[in-house]
Amino acid sequence: MIIHAFLNLFLITRLIMPKNPLIEIKNNLSGLIPGDLIQHLPKKWEKIGDILILKIEKSIKNYEKIIAENYACLLNCKGVFKDTGGISGSFRKPSVKWLYGSKDAVTIHRENKIRYKLDISQLMFSSGNMDERIRMANSSNENETVVDLFAGIGYFSIPMAVYSNPKRIYACEINPFAYKFLCENILLNDVSDIVRPILGDNRVVAPNNVADRIIMGYWDDTQLFLKTAFSCLKNSGGIIHYHIKLPDILVPHKPFEEVENKIKKFKKKAVLMNFKKVKSYAPGIIHAVLDIKIEDL
Ligand SMILES: C[S@@+](CC[C@H](N)C(=O)[O-])C[C@H]1O[C@@H](n2cnc3c(N)ncnc32)[C@H](O)[C@@H]1O
Repeated sequence: MIIHAFLNLFLITRLIMPKNPLIEIKNNLSGLIPGDLIQHLPKKWEKIGDILILKIEKSIKNYEKIIAENYACLLNCKGVFKDTGGISGSFRKPSVKWLYGSKDAVTIHRENKIRYKLDISQLMFSSGNMDERIRMANSSNENETVVDLFAGIGYFSIPMAVYSNPKRIYACEINPFAYKFLCENILLNDVSDIVRPILGDNRVVAPNNVADRIIMGYWDDTQLFLKTAFSCLKNSGGIIHYHIKLPDILVPHKPFEEVENKIKKFKKKAVLMNFKKVKSYAPGIIHAVLDIKIEDL
């Protein structure tokens, strides 16, 4: 009787508790790679749509194909790419190498009921920015015009259009390849009546004196784009979502001072409404966002 109850409990637990994929992967690979290397298997991974991106330590490089195959099977991915050097340059291009399965790097990633189509070998998608994408989705309203100065494939513009339904979002993107997917994602998510994609350098192509809200989702020298952001804002002012990557001890005062000093020339003032950490970048360095209101002096 007692044994029967325990057996039932065991079976119920197996059914309701999600399985840990890493434990299963380790089990599957034991015997296929030397035992002392099992501890070096990737503990984290990026799954974008049905493509997996893995960081492979040097110690297990000789077994990367069989490792990739196992991860792909267990995590249900059509292909696996190796992260060979992070994300770099002003286009934020990832550095990846094909490892296993389909070589087709185009996928559709679903998040918060939004579909993002992208080529993961050319364009980034940061799962660490998910909370910020969701926050941006609900940040605007039907009365606003928004300018997204660094639109990419529509990371912020598309969820904002779907969930906040503003009058218009001007989405500027300098990389023609990202712009192509931005246009596709606008159609895929049925927001072409709201999001207007603009190809080019935002310093040249962004519209002037239209915006109630500006998204500056780019962290390299963001301050160099403040003049553009100020020109996009309506004369009456508005809100800027100002992204930065800095030592955590400098946030928010250093980036806020940057904005405060620059806006003085425009005879306006900056008010810090909110700031938050988006994600850790390196020990002591964070990606953060400041919500700054620009208003009359
Ligand atoms: C990839 S996004 C940053 C990621 C995004 N914040 C997220 O949530 O994942 C930055 C985009 O800004 C674009 N970009 C960089 N400089 C630009 C400029 N001067 N004008 C317009 N777009 C620019 C890049 O091509 C890139 O697609």
